[in-house]
Amino acid sequence: MAARWSGVAAVVAALVCAAALVGRCSAEDPYVYYDLNVSYITASPLGVEKQVIAINKQFPGPILNVTTNWNVVVNVLNSLDEPLLITWDGIQQRMSCWQDGVLGTNCPIPPGWNWTYHFQVKDQIGSFFYFPSLGLQRAAGGYGGIVVNNRPIIPVPFGKPDGDINLFIGDWYNRNHTALRKELDDGKDLGMPDGVLMNGKGPYRYNTTLVPAGIDYETINVEPGKTYRFRVHNVGVSTSLNFRIQNHNLLLVETEGTYTVQQNYTSLDIHVGQSYSFLVTMDQNASSDYYIVASSRFVNESLWTRVTGVAVLHYSNSKGKASGPLPDGPNDVYDKNWSLNQALSIRTNLSTGAARPNPQGSFKYGLINVTEVYMLRNEPPVVINGKRRTTLNGLSYSPPDTPLNLADAYHKKGIYTLDFPTRPLDGPPRIGASVINASYKGFMEIIFQNNDTKVQTYHIDGYSFYVVGMAYGEWTEDCRGQYNKWDAVSRCTTQVFPGAWTAIFVSLDNAGFWNVRAENLDTWYLGQEVYMKLDNPEISGDSESPKPDNALYCGALQYLQKNQTSHGSNASTSSSSILSVGSKLLTLMPFLALVAIFV
Ligand SMILES: *[C@@H]1O[C@H](CO)[C@@H](O)[C@H](O)[C@H]1NC(C)=O
Ligand SMILES: *[C@@H]1O[C@H](CO)[C@@H](O)[C@H](O)[C@H]1NC(C)=O
Ligand SMILES: *[C@@H]1O[C@H](CO)[C@@H](O)[C@H](O)[C@H]1NC(C)=O
Ligand SMILES: *[C@@H]1O[C@H](CO)[C@@H](O)[C@H](O)[C@H]1NC(C)=O
Ligand SMILES: *[C@@H]1O[C@H](CO)[C@@H](O)[C@H](O)[C@H]1NC(C)=O
Ligand SMILES: *[C@@H]1O[C@H](CO)[C@@H](O)[C@H](O)[C@H]1NC(C)=O
Ligand SMILES: *[C@@H]1O[C@H](CO)[C@@H](O)[C@H](O)[C@H]1NC(C)=O
Ligand SMILES: *[C@@H]1O[C@H](CO)[C@@H](O)[C@H](O)[C@H]1NC(C)=O
Ligand SMILES: *[C@@H]1O[C@H](CO)[C@@H](O)[C@H](O)[C@H]1NC(C)=O
Ligand SMILES: *[C@@H]1O[C@H](CO)[C@@H](O)[C@H](O)[C@H]1NC(C)=O
Ligand SMILES: *[C@@H]1O[C@H](CO)[C@@H](O)[C@H](O)[C@H]1NC(C)=O
Ligand SMILES: *[C@@H]1O[C@H](CO)[C@@H](O)[C@H](O)[C@H]1NC(C)=O
Repeated sequence: MAARWSGVAAVVAALVCAAALVGRCSAEDPYVYYDLNVSYITASPLGVEKQVIAINKQFPGPILNVTTNWNVVVNVLNSLDEPLLITWDGIQQRMSCWQDGVLGTNCPIPPGWNWTYHFQVKDQIGSFFYFPSLGLQRAAGGYGGIVVNNRPIIPVPFGKPDGDINLFIGDWYNRNHTALRKELDDGKDLGMPDGVLMNGKGPYRYNTTLVPAGIDYETINVEPGKTYRFRVHNVGVSTSLNFRIQNHNLLLVETEGTYTVQQNYTSLDIHVGQSYSFLVTMDQNASSDYYIVASSRFVNESLWTRVTGVAVLHYSNSKGKASGPLPDGPNDVYDKNWSLNQALSIRTNLSTGAARPNPQGSFKYGLINVTEVYMLRNEPPVVINGKRRTTLNGLSYSPPDTPLNLADAYHKKGIYTLDFPTRPLDGPPRIGASVINASYKGFMEIIFQNNDTKVQTYHIDGYSFYVVGMAYGEWTEDCRGQYNKWDAVSRCTTQVFPGAWTAIFVSLDNAGFWNVRAENLDTWYLGQEVYMKLDNPEISGDSESPKPDNALYCGALQYLQKNQTSHGSNASTSSSSILSVGSKLLTLMPFLALVAIFV
C-alpha cells in the first residue's frame, strides 16, 4: 500500500496500564497515546492555494488505529490562530461527555494551548472519523480516521483483508474557512462547491476540459487477486456523494460500527458524515487502471459536473492509464426512490457479533417499549432577528458561552433551558439554548422530518441508534407500521431525504449532555443542533459524569482558568495579535467569552 496509510509517525503506543489517569476505566485495558498538532499549511488540491488545516503537517490527518476497549489518550495542540475542539464522531464515550469536543460540553482550546482528551472505545468496533467541530473548520480539513479493530479473540464475519485503505471523500471550496464563515454570517448561501477531494487531493485528469493540468490526484496501489477493505468517509461540507470503482463490486460489510448483511453494490450513496466499509477484490484483468469516483447527488448533475472526485486504482500489473468516460452513476433524476431503497437495503448481519461474540440480534430493539417520542422538523433557512438561521422545531440553537455540563457542575443557572419541544413549535422561530430533557435508561424514538429541499444528515454524539424507517412525505403514526423492527442497522449518522422522514430508536444508556446535530456544516453552523440531557440518578452529586481534572473553564467560570504557557505557533505573544485573535473569536462565536489570556 502507499505509505500514507501505513502508519502514524507521531504515535507513541505505550501499551501499559496507567489507570490513574482516567477515573472510570478498567485497569486491564491497554492505553494508547497520540499527539495531534493542529496547524495550518498551504495546499492547492484544486490548483488554487488555500489555508488548509493539517494534523502533524498531514492532510488528511493520521488514523487512530485502536482496538475494542482500549483507552485512548489524545493530546491536541492548537497551533491555529483561533480556538479549536476536536470531536470523535461515532465514539460512544461510555465514560464521559466531557471528552466529546463540542461547545456544549467543552471550552474551546485557545490558540497556542494544548488539551488532552481521554476516552475508551468501550464495546465497539468500526470505521469513524474525527474532525474540528468549531465554525467551518472542517471545510479546511483537520479530519482523520478512527479505526476500531476487533479484539483478536472476537470473530469477524469475513477473512482478513490483504490491506486496509481509508478514503476521505468530500466536497471542497477554494475559499478558506474564515471566508466561508463570513458568507454564512452575512446571510449568503455557500453555493456550488469547487470540486470533490479524495484523501486531500483533486481529481485525476479524466477530461482535459473539465480538469486543469497539474492537479495532484490520489492513486491506490493494489495487487491483482487480492481483497482490500476500503473504509470510505464523507467528510465534506454538505454534498451527498455517489461512490463507485470502475468494473469492481463493492461488497458492503460494515457501517459505523455494525457488520452488515454482505451485499454487492456497483455504487453507494454516502451522505455527509457517513462511513462505510467495503471489501473490494482485484478481479479484473488490469488492461488499464480503473477510476474511483465520488460524484454529487441530489443536485442537477449536468450543472455540477465539476463537483466530482476521481482517484485511480492501479494494479501492479496494469497495462496503462485509465481513460475514457467515468463509469455512470445511478441515473435516477426522475426516480427519487433509488437512493432511499438502497438505504433501506442496508441491514444488520444478525448472525455475527460486533465488539462482543454474541450476535447483535440478541438485542431485540424491536420489542422494547418506547418511553419518549421527539419529532424534529427542519425547514429551509429563515431570518430571525435579521440573521439567516436554520431551525429544528422552530428553534435555532446558539451555543452559550459556558458549556452546559460545566454550568451544571458549578450550579450556574440560566445558561440553558430544559424545555425543547417534542413537536415543532407553532409561532415565530427563535434563537436560544433549549435542551431536550431525556430520561436516563429510557428508549427514545426520534422522527426527523426534512422540510428542506436538500438532503440532510443527522448525528448524535455518544450514541449509535437504530435507523428503523425512512420514506417520502409527512410522517404520521401509521408510518410506524413500516418500521424495520428486526435487522435495522445501528449507526451514528443518518440521512433524511428532502420532503421525507427518517425514524430512529435510541437506547438512552449514556448519561451527560449529548449533541444532536445536522452534520451538513452550513446547516449546523446556522443553528440546527440541540443537546439532550440525561441525568444518571445512580451517580451522586450534581453532574452526570465527573469533571476531569484538566477541564478548561470559560464563560461564567472563566475566573477559574489557570494560565497555560503558549507552546508557540501562529498564536502569538504580541498584544496586537491577541487583539486579532480576539476579533476572530468573536466572529466565530458571538456569544463566546474569551477564556484565554495569552502569556
Ligand atoms: C492497525 O491495528 C491492527 C490491530 O492492532 C493491525 O493489525 C494493523 O496492522 C494496524 N494498521 C495500521 C495501518 O497500522
Ligand atoms: C506544531 O506545529 C507547528 C506548526 O507546524 C510548529 O511550529 C510547532 O513547533 C509544532 N509543535 C510541536 C510541539 O510539535
Ligand atoms: C500538553 O499538555 C500536557 C499535560 O498538560 C503536558 O504534559 C505537555 O507537555 C503539553 N505540551 C505539549 C506541547 O503538548
Ligand atoms: C481567507 O480568505 C479571505 C477572503 O478571501 C482573505 O481575506 C483572507 O486573507 C484569507 N485568510 C488566509 C489566512 O488565507
Ligand atoms: C469532457 O467534458 C466536456 C464537458 O462536459 C464534454 O463536452 C466532453 O465531451 C468531455 N470530453 C471527453 C473526451 O469525454
Ligand atoms: C460480490 O461480487 C464478487 C465479484 O466481484 C463475487 O465474487 C461475490 O460472490 C459477490 N458476493 C455476493 C455476496 O454477492
Ligand atoms: C479485459 O477486460 C475488459 C472488460 O472486462 C475487456 O473488454 C477486455 O477485452 C479484457 N482484456 C483482456 C486483454 O483480456
Ligand atoms: C439541469 O440543468 C440544465 C441546464 O440548466 C437544464 O437544461 C436541465 O433541465 C436541468 N435538469 C433538471 C433535472 O432540472
Ligand atoms: C416511490 O415509491 C413509492 C412507495 O413505494 C411509490 O408510491 C412511488 O410511485 C415511487 N416513485 C417512483 C417515481 O418510482
Ligand atoms: C411494553 O408495554 C406493554 C404494555 O404496556 C407491556 O405489556 C410489555 O410487557 C412491555 N414490554 C416490555 C419489554 O417492557
Ligand atoms: C414543507 O411543509 C409545507 C407545509 O406543511 C408543505 O406544503 C411542503 O410540501 C413541505 N416541503 C417539503 C419539501 O417537505
Ligand atoms: C494570566 O496571565 C496574565 C498575563 O501574564 C495575567 O495578567 C493574569 O493575571 C494571569 N491570570 C491568572 C489567573 O493567573
